[in-house]
Amino acid sequence: MKATQEKLKLKLQEALAAAFGAEYAKADPILVPASNPKFGDYQANVALSLAKQLGQQPRAIAQQIVGKLDLTGICKPPEIAGPGFINLKLETEYLVEQLKAIQADPRLGVAPAKNPKRVIVDYPSPNIAKEMHVGHLRPAIIGDCLARIVEFMGHEVLRISHVGDWGTPFGMLIAYLEEAYPEALTTTETLNLGDLSSFYREAKKRFDADEDFRKAAHQSVVKLQAGDEKTLLAWKIVCQLSSRAYQVIYDLLGIAPFIERGESFYNALLPQVVEELDKQGLLVENQGAKCVFLDGFTNREGEPLPLIVQKSDGGYNYAATDLAAIRHRVQVEKVQQVIYPVGAEQTNHFAQIFQVGRKAGWITDNVEFVHTPFGLVLGEDGQKLKTRSGEAVKLRDLLDGAIAHARKDLEYRLKEEGRQEKEEFIADVAQIVGVSAVKYADLSQNRTSNYIFSYEKMLALKGNTAPYMLYAYVRTQGISREGNIDYDKLRADVPIILQEELELNLAKHLLQLDEVLAEVEKDLLPNRLCEYLYQLSQKYNQFFENCPVLKSEEPVRTSRLILCDVTARTLKLGLSLLGINVLERM
Ligand code: ARG
Repeated sequence: MKATQEKLKLKLQEALAAAFGAEYAKADPILVPASNPKFGDYQANVALSLAKQLGQQPRAIAQQIVGKLDLTGICKPPEIAGPGFINLKLETEYLVEQLKAIQADPRLGVAPAKNPKRVIVDYPSPNIAKEMHVGHLRPAIIGDCLARIVEFMGHEVLRISHVGDWGTPFGMLIAYLEEAYPEALTTTETLNLGDLSSFYREAKKRFDADEDFRKAAHQSVVKLQAGDEKTLLAWKIVCQLSSRAYQVIYDLLGIAPFIERGESFYNALLPQVVEELDKQGLLVENQGAKCVFLDGFTNREGEPLPLIVQKSDGGYNYAATDLAAIRHRVQVEKVQQVIYPVGAEQTNHFAQIFQVGRKAGWITDNVEFVHTPFGLVLGEDGQKLKTRSGEAVKLRDLLDGAIAHARKDLEYRLKEEGRQEKEEFIADVAQIVGVSAVKYADLSQNRTSNYIFSYEKMLALKGNTAPYMLYAYVRTQGISREGNIDYDKLRADVPIILQEELELNLAKHLLQLDEVLAEVEKDLLPNRLCEYLYQLSQKYNQFFENCPVLKSEEPVRTSRLILCDVTARTLKLGLSLLGINVLERM
């Protein structure tokens, strides 16, 4: 069967626009899901918004629109309510037909982009001269999720980690390597330098304690920038040590593989950036530094703010490197979109480099550069999450804590239910539930706000949490096990019967996946997908508790099994786009 599932909302919008008449066809129909299912499935508020413009009563306008509105085969005859809302209720036959199409489609009705773009998602991009802490959580989780969604929508995605792998912070680490592990620089074997955290700790101790060491660290930076071979080797070893340690965490988090292309990659391109800006007359000398003046940015005195591209000592900074990256991404990688999931504290930085990128002509109307900012992870006290001694919490500890918590919950539940499970099962479920809970808690918030990190809340079996959704999925699989049903074999031409209100609600929700993903692709807000999956789990649970599946007579039985199957596949796909794996049992 060919998938005919179509963007329903779009179709309704088009029909409404056609009914406005040519003059107002461009007006927004303001189509929203109905606030109360009693009145219908969708509500169009356009008559109210046009009233002033037309100098007519909204109800009269609604009447004219409804008189011309043709939605035969999709909706029941539209009704006008209150001051002039147009209420639309879907025809059951239409729902059935659409649901069949979705069931037959491995993409569940989500058509891939007609014009695929080449897109870079710039993540997780940590500064690797630092230990991995809670601040590294959000770029990894959000970046990974956005990359998955954009890719699923049919675009070609390059995941590029713009790691901070250059400059001053490396001086200390290089000096420490040279001092403590001189043999590392003469052997070709990979030396065991201990774990990353003790390496950092010891380096920092030396740095804080010894003036000569600080001098050596500074010297290392100078030598590194001058391209001294031995220093470069030491730098490379430190970078590898970091990358390996970071990778362990990314694996635990299930972050998809990415290209590591850090700041150092752009070193050779920096002089060209300066040269090109200069040629275009954008460069201004300001107290010895080379700058570009920005529109719309002023200092406290109200004077225009410069973006420094090259410091007076000839060195380059973070902004210069990012300008080189912009130019490289457009001219060499030839992308149409670059997405930067980076903390909100860098909002000005991105606005500034994008502005300079446009002034320089690198960013044209054909490429979209977007910063997708996010807020902070807070402790239960509402302050930045810290350990008792006041340090940023290590990411490893944070995740291990979630897994331990999930394990405790699981063991308690097993005892309650009198279940015996193998250690392997317990460890596996605890890890998936713990890590998923952390990810989901992060993604389910509007990313632009801060959120409070709470194991208890994120691991609750009820509410908008990963365990709640994983559990809904487990229920769908429980039915197939209990009834010995192979869901795949259902994908044939069987009748679907939607009679009960709860069946209809579930079916309507299943039809909305493509709309939701289109929205997420546009706004890059994963919490919309989370909200959709949460509602799906709720609707499925209501259906599950009130509509017998295996015990029903045919053809209702098969029809309900199909609802279970499509729900399961929608949950699985939706969660996978959040970077969450489902469990068959938990
Ligand atoms: N390394 C930076 C930091 O940790 C983030 C880099 C983001 N990406 C970029 N192209 N600037 O703050």
